[in-house]
Amino acid sequence: MLPLIYINNERGGMMLKLQNLSKTYGKGSVKAVDNVSLEIRPGEIFGFLGPNGAGKTTTIKMIVGLLKPDSGKIYLDNIDVWENPMEAKSRISFVPDTPEVYDKLKGIEYLNFIADIYGIPKDIRQERIEKYLDIFELRNAVGDIIGSYSHGMKQKLVLISALIHDPKLFILDEPMVGLDPKSSFHLKEIMRERCNEGKIVFFSTHVLEVAEKLCDRIAIINKGKIVALGTMDELRRYSEEKESLENIFLELTANE
Ligand SMILES: Nc1ncnc2c1ncn2[C@@H]1O[C@H](COP(=O)(O)OP(=O)(O)OP(=O)(O)O)[C@@H](O)[C@H]1O
Ligand SMILES: [Mg+2]
Repeated sequence: MLPLIYINNERGGMMLKLQNLSKTYGKGSVKAVDNVSLEIRPGEIFGFLGPNGAGKTTTIKMIVGLLKPDSGKIYLDNIDVWENPMEAKSRISFVPDTPEVYDKLKGIEYLNFIADIYGIPKDIRQERIEKYLDIFELRNAVGDIIGSYSHGMKQKLVLISALIHDPKLFILDEPMVGLDPKSSFHLKEIMRERCNEGKIVFFSTHVLEVAEKLCDRIAIINKGKIVALGTMDELRRYSEEKESLENIFLELTANE
């Protein structure tokens, strides 16, 4: 097993801190998330990898305030996400693995609805909405009812809505699934751009090439536990002859 790599961060500023998070579903004896601790620094794109059922979505839902941890703490900017949910949530946006939007609204109505929730002034929201409608080529569809959108179009609408309040923490659960190559290229650009501005991007993915190319650091979770954490170089250093992330991943998540 790879040794965990923890690097001290004294840079200050915003940080996402998970402290000993655990979650068991129902009466189950299996922990979906088992004592997970992570620190994500400002300016980082953080990739969260792991096999199906490893606990990625469960962890993400606890961070964004959708699923209460059995134990452990989550801090963003030193704000306890579960003790000060409104303060925390104003800094977070979450793109779930399946786009759930109100089919009866028009695209633009949905975007304005989200902008209203976050209290984004008219001129700022206008500018941001225009920008992302162009990037994701959704301008022509935004006047139509969401029910008429394709899956990918709904996904892009959710992405745009998640960017309207310019969140410090942008969390995405398998964001590349269902996006066409061009959109997924632009999304990666947006992720990079946000991190250059000192914000955090945290996303889960099964696409190891994306993680390898895009992420500043990567954590691999298996059966609820973090089994590796570090930069690609750090992960490589601890795995003799296992050059690719694919090999590292397969080795670490192999069933005994
Ligand atoms: N609502 C639920 N009720 C009961 N068990 C659940 C529920 N959601 C998830 N689980 C269980 O928790 C574990 C972790 O699931 P989770 O969805 O977090 O995995 P994941 O890493 O996101 O997987 P995937 O890559 O398939 O999306 C799995 O064993 C799963 O069966
Ligand atoms: Mg999942």
